[in-house]
Amino acid sequence: MTDITTTLGAGSDPSSATRIAADVDMLATPEFTLPGLGVTRYAYTDAYARTLHYFEEAFRGFGFDVRYDPVGTLIASNRPPGERCFGLGSHCDSVRNGGRYDGTLGVACALEVCRLAHERGLDLPLRVFSFLEEEGSGFGQMLLGSRIMLQRVSDDDLASYRTDDGVSFVEAAREAGFGPDRHRESIVALDGLVGWIEPHIEQGRVLQDTGYRLGVVDAIAGYIHADAKVEGRADHAGATPMGFRSDAAITAAEIVVELDGMARECSDDVVGTVGEIHLQPGVINVVPGTAEFTLDLRSTSDAHAELAERISAYGRSRAEARGQRWSYRERQRVEPMAMHERVVNAVERAASTTGHPWRRMPSGAAHDTMLVAERVPSAMVFVPCVDGISHAPEERADPADAALAAEVILAAVRDLMKVERDA
Ligand code: GLV
Ligand code: MN
Ligand code: MN
Repeated sequence: MTDITTTLGAGSDPSSATRIAADVDMLATPEFTLPGLGVTRYAYTDAYARTLHYFEEAFRGFGFDVRYDPVGTLIASNRPPGERCFGLGSHCDSVRNGGRYDGTLGVACALEVCRLAHERGLDLPLRVFSFLEEEGSGFGQMLLGSRIMLQRVSDDDLASYRTDDGVSFVEAAREAGFGPDRHRESIVALDGLVGWIEPHIEQGRVLQDTGYRLGVVDAIAGYIHADAKVEGRADHAGATPMGFRSDAAITAAEIVVELDGMARECSDDVVGTVGEIHLQPGVINVVPGTAEFTLDLRSTSDAHAELAERISAYGRSRAEARGQRWSYRERQRVEPMAMHERVVNAVERAASTTGHPWRRMPSGAAHDTMLVAERVPSAMVFVPCVDGISHAPEERADPADAALAAEVILAAVRDLMKVERDA
């Protein structure tokens, strides 16, 4: 169980923290996660469907209508589709063996904003989204639901997406009762949205270590995801002297180390990671003939794009120097995204009235908001994350901070909707 130890400050309702904790903790129980450590929840699995159903019931409990877009992004609203509304939300899929808060806390917090608005008799037009497959852990494509919604995914792309076990995205979506052939229609879910705020855990330790209770996000780092491959020659590990080998693992290892060095030499906001590496044949007594690995490069400027060019050129030169083949394929690219000043300022004003410390900050992690922001004035609110741990079973956040975020978001939405109505 999550312990609620933080003292709630002016303007936040203690029952909000209890309710958010109850939602998040319930969704970490075995019914809502695949087997393993922490939470594992991929799109279209039974655990995922039960999680969406949990949110459906909660929203219907106070009169919201719940629908899905053609690929399975949940949309709950107290207004008919297309009507002027303020958008809130996040995602409730997870990485493998992830934590209970990444994404799910954002949807639970958005739910709490709607509950509070309902309880207080505010007739605020709200629309909450739980985006499909934000993590990309099922089909290998991060921000999948929001990229589909923003028309960034072609029919051919969609047809090519598969799980590691070879299950096709299109088949899985159909089997789950959705209509992936109509994926282009999912954009209508944004019609009428006049603003958007995503609550989320920070996933870093800046807020905790600097003593702030909320982060107001003003920019989200862009990223490039790529797949690289080095092809050398597999040989007997005992019978092949060192001078006679074409070991793909050595080239891959050089590239991993070089990427780390290159990223450190760039500006502070640049990061580069090799998160997956697979050697073939992957046998203890065979020199690796092939090394396949992923690249994840990010920055809030465009510096990561230059890093991508440099590391792929380096990879090619190291492979060629060994007489090996090199291939590099970009899987996806999402540009850095500035948040909308008007929405950011409204969140800042609301945060200032609570008396609790908050700060502006960029997001190094990617979020569906970076796609939504292409069409809708957007911002994000971060809550601190204990020791910055995320994408791990040990991930923790204080529901009292999420309750504070819910109050701040509610106040900001009221402010923005009032301005919008008066305009
Ligand atoms: C999303 O979780 C990311 O990797 O930024
Ligand atoms: Mn997330
Ligand atoms: Mn995540």
